[in-house]
Amino acid sequence: MSPPPPVFDHVWLNAHLATMRDDALGIIEDGAVAARDGRIAWIGPRAALPAHDAPVTDCGGAWILPGLIDCHTHLVFGGNRSAEFEMRLGGATYEEIARAGGGILSTMRATRAANDAQLVQAALPRLDALLREGVTTVEIKSGYGLELDAELRQLRAARALGAQRQVSVVTSLLAAHAVPPEYKGRQGDYLRHVVEEILPRAAAEGLADAVDAFCESIAFTPDETATLFTAAKRLGLPVKLHADQLTDGGGAALAAAHGALSADHLERSNAAGIAAMAKAGTVAVLLPGATLMLRETHFPPIAAMREHGCRMALSTDMNPGSSPALSLLLMLNLGCTLFRMTVPEALLGVTRHAAAALGLADRGVLAEGMRCDLALYRIQRPAELCYWLGGNPCAGRVVAGLPA
Ligand code: NIG
Ligand code: FE
Repeated sequence: MSPPPPVFDHVWLNAHLATMRDDALGIIEDGAVAARDGRIAWIGPRAALPAHDAPVTDCGGAWILPGLIDCHTHLVFGGNRSAEFEMRLGGATYEEIARAGGGILSTMRATRAANDAQLVQAALPRLDALLREGVTTVEIKSGYGLELDAELRQLRAARALGAQRQVSVVTSLLAAHAVPPEYKGRQGDYLRHVVEEILPRAAAEGLADAVDAFCESIAFTPDETATLFTAAKRLGLPVKLHADQLTDGGGAALAAAHGALSADHLERSNAAGIAAMAKAGTVAVLLPGATLMLRETHFPPIAAMREHGCRMALSTDMNPGSSPALSLLLMLNLGCTLFRMTVPEALLGVTRHAAAALGLADRGVLAEGMRCDLALYRIQRPAELCYWLGGNPCAGRVVAGLPA
């Protein structure tokens, strides 16, 4: 007697698959994917698909990738900073604007002034823009509240976005983003407030999946960052870091020493820091939107990352100041054109390595047992995802096995 047919909830076929299982994209031409209970139950060439009686979607020759992962965003905020953009076009620098009380602090004022519903409403169109391109997991940071209540409200807004749309939202507490005006000249006291009040509350309410900090000459010192990281780890929370964006503050090595999930930006990191990250398994999150927007001339040390085998992720850094980027596909192009990443490096950067940057072992790759989060694209070749400067070939998303 032949074995009973496998039970699938749904099958997608007549598609080419970029599984991301290997560094050449793990391509399966004319493949099929089957889902059961939100996970991938079978994947392979269509010719080998077992007999089944599940509903089928004919993908018409589309390409299927793991649902894209945007692993670094500041999506929840009030207002925008187009006026500062104009000041920068007139010659002012990001640092000058920040030191004059603009920058992050101007978004802090607009964020504190917004109520909970307004925060969610303002963020929804930005989230939707990412989803339309095939994003199925997005990380969202706080960092524009800079006081207990407003930081928690930002994180709750991020959770609310995840409840209102078919997407996984992963949150990071970034209360150590800037020193708020109430603590002007008392940076140490603010950091203590973050460590002793904001962090424990965010952890106790289950609002933070990770803890981030801005380690920079205009923000927090390496020692302050280390203090915060130690406290986060005591609460069982993983850490990540905005590192070496404007100056080389040894952020890459610091993140590695704390076993951070990721160190992000890295425009001015040194090779020893990159080597330490590779050894610690800390993912390098590259943010070419910020590089472009700030007309930065230092690029992240990609050669050192390749040499040491440091995994690279790519993300929008969606934020109102340094990267008002609403397209992860555009970041694929910028990763290639600005940073000279290869197409496989860029695509791994928004799938497998982006999952690693968030500590998520159940996605980013198409394989049996992984979450069935898919992005479908009407393209001839995967390289098209990096090639077009604008436009959107996404033909559908699947989240946990369900068309979204
Ligand atoms: O990732 N570098 C610090 N934080 C953000 C920018 C925040 C802002 O300017 O509002 C970033 O680039
Ligand atoms: Fe950022």
